[in-house]
Amino acid sequence: MMKEVLEKIANNGNFKLEKFSDDIQQVSPELRVHAISNIVSALDIPSDSSIIDIGTGYGYGAVLLNVLGNNVIGLEIFDKKLENGIKYWEKQGIKIEKNYDLEKAVFTNNKLYFANMDSRKINHFPDSSVDFVTSFYLSAYMLGKNGAYQNVHKVLKPNGKLILSTEGVLNVPEFARGLLVKTLGKRIVPKGLKFEKMITMDKNKAYDRYVIIYKK
Ligand SMILES: C[S@@+](CC[C@H](N)C(=O)[O-])C[C@H]1O[C@@H](n2cnc3c(N)ncnc32)[C@H](O)[C@@H]1O
Repeated sequence: MMKEVLEKIANNGNFKLEKFSDDIQQVSPELRVHAISNIVSALDIPSDSSIIDIGTGYGYGAVLLNVLGNNVIGLEIFDKKLENGIKYWEKQGIKIEKNYDLEKAVFTNNKLYFANMDSRKINHFPDSSVDFVTSFYLSAYMLGKNGAYQNVHKVLKPNGKLILSTEGVLNVPEFARGLLVKTLGKRIVPKGLKFEKMITMDKNKAYDRYVIIYKK
């Protein structure tokens, strides 16, 4: 049932997903899933891709990409968030793989996994094994000092891409925000990757409207 709802959202259907955590910082799942779905539609991600979603939070991006036919592993450093997300999606009938082997998970087809893991340890997955690494609604600190993407180049296949979405710095006036994100995106390039482009989404489609793409 939930799979059908998410498929319809991905095709611009209009459905409500209620907030499910008592975390006051939880953004409406409906807003997140719609925003991520619009971002994914603007990208070229063939189904059957192998994807790792960094900072998956409650898992919105990972679940959606899996429903669209991809093999996805969501990584989240904050265990409570991830536990709440997993409980929620399982109640909705989404199948999540358990007790898996990191070495093998990236090579299966159309499965969904979650790991409570710091993305700096992403090199525990096999080298050159995934098509895309995504990270939706990232904070600048993850790109900068936190080094959340420092080992991404190791797990990406030779033509693989890192896709990041961000709202940008909110106290910068809107007309300059995109330019600043692009300038920072070009300057703070994660190790082993090259800046490819930035896509600006219509603000009615995604509030994390700046999408930066790096290629290996
Ligand atoms: C702003 S939230 C975005 C959540 C989700 N991607 C979304 O689109 O709604 C960023 C998430 O990244 C997680 N995070 C930050 N640094 C991380 C790291 N090094 N490894 C894994 N997760 C991290 C945070 O705990 C938080 O849940």
